Amino acid sequence: MQGKKIIIGVTGSIAAYKIALLTRLLIKQGTEVRILMTPSSKDFITPLTLSTLSKNPVYSDVSSESEWNNHVELGLWADAFIVAPATANTIAKMATGQCDNIVLATYLSAKCPVFVAPAMDLDMWKHPATLNNLETLKSYGNHLIPVGHGELASGLVGAGRMAEPEEIVSFINSKLNAQQALKGKRVLVTSGPTHEAIDPVRFIGNRSSGKMGSAIVEALYEQGAEVILVSGPAISLPAANTAAEIIKVNSAAEMYDACTKQFANVDIAIMAAAVADYTPIDVSKVKVKKKTETFTLELTKTKDIAKELGKQKKSHQFLVGFALETNNELENAQGKLAKKNFDFIVLNSLQDKGAGFQHNTNKITIVDIHRNITKFDLKSKQLVAKDIVNYLITIVNGKNN
Ligand code: CTP
Repeated sequence: MQGKKIIIGVTGSIAAYKIALLTRLLIKQGTEVRILMTPSSKDFITPLTLSTLSKNPVYSDVSSESEWNNHVELGLWADAFIVAPATANTIAKMATGQCDNIVLATYLSAKCPVFVAPAMDLDMWKHPATLNNLETLKSYGNHLIPVGHGELASGLVGAGRMAEPEEIVSFINSKLNAQQALKGKRVLVTSGPTHEAIDPVRFIGNRSSGKMGSAIVEALYEQGAEVILVSGPAISLPAANTAAEIIKVNSAAEMYDACTKQFANVDIAIMAAAVADYTPIDVSKVKVKKKTETFTLELTKTKDIAKELGKQKKSHQFLVGFALETNNELENAQGKLAKKNFDFIVLNSLQDKGAGFQHNTNKITIVDIHRNITKFDLKSKQLVAKDIVNYLITIVNGKNN
């Protein structure tokens, strides 16, 4: 933590008294601390206490008397921004991009990792609105510091207590100093479905939600990778926030062009997209009218992107494929692994409950070129993505060779 620049955004909760200790702990670790306060937080702890402990002026307004407190500059200055305590009200405002105080204005300007230490009463914590807002913050890539369980200011006992200052410091420490095994690596990820146009209003698509690809982008980002996302028409917020570059495509042909153009400049490619295998030979320029009793569409095979990248793959590059199967799963996956020159393939079976398209969970088996078969339990797509990225790291580090 030595030398890190940290902003604490204090909001109006009784837990604000703990920020005095948090500030001291951070200063002891050799960090520089700047404190921002919402107006209502000053009812719980004084700016004088926090400016004395942080050895810096405390701001609670975007401007004061004759001075403009530049939230954009502050947001860019910080290596980490901690919102603690974060009330239900501030969390809701952060989730919806509201900006009526200096803590929120700086949050919107911050480019650094953001940590949120919620503090509220048991029932507020459990309310679906709060839970949704917390999910939204997670989808922005913000880190939520788990709340404690115990006696609350209301006298009720349960979850909602702000983490202790020592816990907050160790949480931030572990995130900021986490070993980023893919630092310096460029990774191409394909994600989502493709849409093959029939006419200007219709297309052939598939049920891919892009959730798995998006979770992979996030997991790669956490490991320090620079991700180039080539996404079909289903893109979710976490991916949009963490990919270094996003190339939006519609059809398999557009995805092929984007990927073949990018491949030479990446170290790794992960083919998580559900690419159409066939596309209409003729695309009508005008809307097809309902004239005949039956309608026949002639389709032709799309180009296999993964197979092409497999052919072009150089010895320093890694290629990861996916296979969604309904039967003869292992055999089919092993066939694709060899045919497309993957280093490993991630197999989902539609026979497994909770696996495949549309779900928030997935159950995978990884098969690699050394015929190692690793089965994983059913888990959230975020955790599955971490398993895939960890496997990738062992392969990149040569541990499985
Ligand atoms: N893939 C691709 N380009 C295609 C088709 C598939 O890049 N035109 C990639 C997918 O992203 C996935 C892997 O190849 O990583 C396997 O895709 P899948 O659809 O399961 O395999 P296919 O070769 O299309 O075989 P089939 O549909 O007959 O099972």
